[in-house]
Amino acid sequence: CGIVGYVGNDKSVEVLMGGLRRLEYRGYDSAGIAVIDTEGRLDTRKKAGKLQKLADELESNPIANGRTGIGHTRWATHGAPNDTNAHPHLGDGGKLALIHNGIIENFAELKQELIDEDPETVFLSETDSEVAALLVGRAYREAGSLAEALRAVVNRLHGAFTLLVMHEDEPGVVVGARRNSPLVIGLGDGENFLGSDVAAFIEHTHRAMEIGQDQLAIITPDAVTVTDFDGNLVDTTSFEVKWDASAAEKGGWSSFMAKEISEEPEAVAKTLLGRVADGSVHLSELDSIGDDALRSIDRIVIVGAGTANFTGMQAKYAIEKWTRVPVEVELSHEFRYRDPILTPNTLVVSTSQSGETMDTLMAVKYARENGARTLSICNTQGATIPRESDAVVYTHAGPEVAVASTKAFVAQVIALYLFGLHLAVVRGTLSKDEVAEIVTELNALPDKMATVLEQHDSIKQLAGWMADTRSVLFLGRHAGYPVALEGALKLKEIAYIHAEGFAAGELKHGPIALIEPGIPVFVVVPSPRDPNSLHKKVVSNIQEIRARGARILAIAEQGDAAVLPYADVVIPIPLASTLIEPLLAVIPLQIFALELASAKGLDVDQPRNLAKSVTVE
Ligand code: G6P
Repeated sequence: CGIVGYVGNDKSVEVLMGGLRRLEYRGYDSAGIAVIDTEGRLDTRKKAGKLQKLADELESNPIANGRTGIGHTRWATHGAPNDTNAHPHLGDGGKLALIHNGIIENFAELKQELIDEDPETVFLSETDSEVAALLVGRAYREAGSLAEALRAVVNRLHGAFTLLVMHEDEPGVVVGARRNSPLVIGLGDGENFLGSDVAAFIEHTHRAMEIGQDQLAIITPDAVTVTDFDGNLVDTTSFEVKWDASAAEKGGWSSFMAKEISEEPEAVAKTLLGRVADGSVHLSELDSIGDDALRSIDRIVIVGAGTANFTGMQAKYAIEKWTRVPVEVELSHEFRYRDPILTPNTLVVSTSQSGETMDTLMAVKYARENGARTLSICNTQGATIPRESDAVVYTHAGPEVAVASTKAFVAQVIALYLFGLHLAVVRGTLSKDEVAEIVTELNALPDKMATVLEQHDSIKQLAGWMADTRSVLFLGRHAGYPVALEGALKLKEIAYIHAEGFAAGELKHGPIALIEPGIPVFVVVPSPRDPNSLHKKVVSNIQEIRARGARILAIAEQGDAAVLPYADVVIPIPLASTLIEPLLAVIPLQIFALELASAKGLDVDQPRNLAKSVTVE
């Protein structure tokens, strides 16, 4: 869910709606705002559906503006996405409004407590959040202070949550609390903000302040106070947001996804910037772990979810080769619950674009609590996962708004590669020349990516022809395998087409039974110059499925004559070594998914049922 809070001038409706627009990628099945107007009355509007529905509602049924407000865009957990389940929820006889992100695990118990106390209690919605609103309302009647009331309640909630509350009797105040769910403060001049992430207030200020776990923030137009859940003041850290507000605008592009794919060369270049020089690699961010500790690492586990998980799979090939340290890759939600073996010599690396994915956050916390060292690869400043890790290497892909991750994928792989090279330098497993050679190739990557992007129109045409396709398979081998998985995921996510990725060698062990005449199969073909001779093997795999009627769409190195006789379509990519090639091969697959979904008339940026940052487990 996306959350925004505002206190300042009499323009809260615009600020809230602007913030929600920028946060809509966090959830878009319903939205709502509450405002305390200039007369001191609290009013709300909420609507099922995308944010535009709420905007339309505000048009036909305006809400009086005021200087205090909260807004929410929802990704449903408890209760269907309808008008009543949308946030804000009210308490204290309609004088208090509350918005919530997360899941309150003991809500049934708390609901019963409210019923036992007053059997007449009316619950308008099916949400756990309304229970919190009623509880804070009840506590307010006793405490007479919003901060006190919220403090009294948060200590009783189990699970993860961000809560924002405001009350008619305390205009000019919004109080927020967080446990394991995201919340940051935006610092303005005579106005202050709360948001799920900095996108909520980037239009108004670039000054932000972090809020730690189990902390509460009280904002008024002129002051910001942060305390723990017991009311003790805590130290805070402010930071300057480097994102440009326009970076999160669509500009002239048809979708954020199209824009973000086009930004991939820049995402890679910026992630490399300042980290590679004179043919060597140094990540000063790893100083907080220290060279001795890096030398003593005997196992690396990379955790993530969705696309982020595939970046780990991709990087494993490089990191193991360069450092000779065993690398495991695991879905963060599986890792956390299987009693993994962790020692002080285990380094758990998490990859997360948002830095907020609850599954990954919980894996990182678990790893730390059980003695492992933790490194975060993240694209979002001030996010929770980097805060909870021993070190962070930021990717500099800029804000990624489309739900389906594209530029963050390539930037994450680059950051993981840089980490691998740094480790190899520290451990002495690569020679200076070997590092220099890889660095040269990395530096050449943005330009090569740009040439792949030039094929956008021809891939669009291909996708247009295939708009009726019901099933697509993706094959890859070695470092091309994670890309096959990512190509399939992209198509599922935004085009709602059955798609599966396979390791090409596995084909004969089962998946080949799926091949029937006409089925399209994308094949990521390794370079013919690959030292492991994988190229020949993949060409044989192509022949096997072609003999059974598959339609072959080969992504192959420019001038690769061996695939030509067997491919129905060849998408050429520039020459690159085995470990770099996947970063080029993924681009046509991203464009294909984008254009096929567009040809089907789908909303590529906000696919059904998904949200960009899933902050619940
Ligand atoms: C969600 C999104 C995916 C994304 C995954 C991980 O499931 O729909 O597109 O890959 O989260 O997100 P993260 O922010 O942790 O990289």
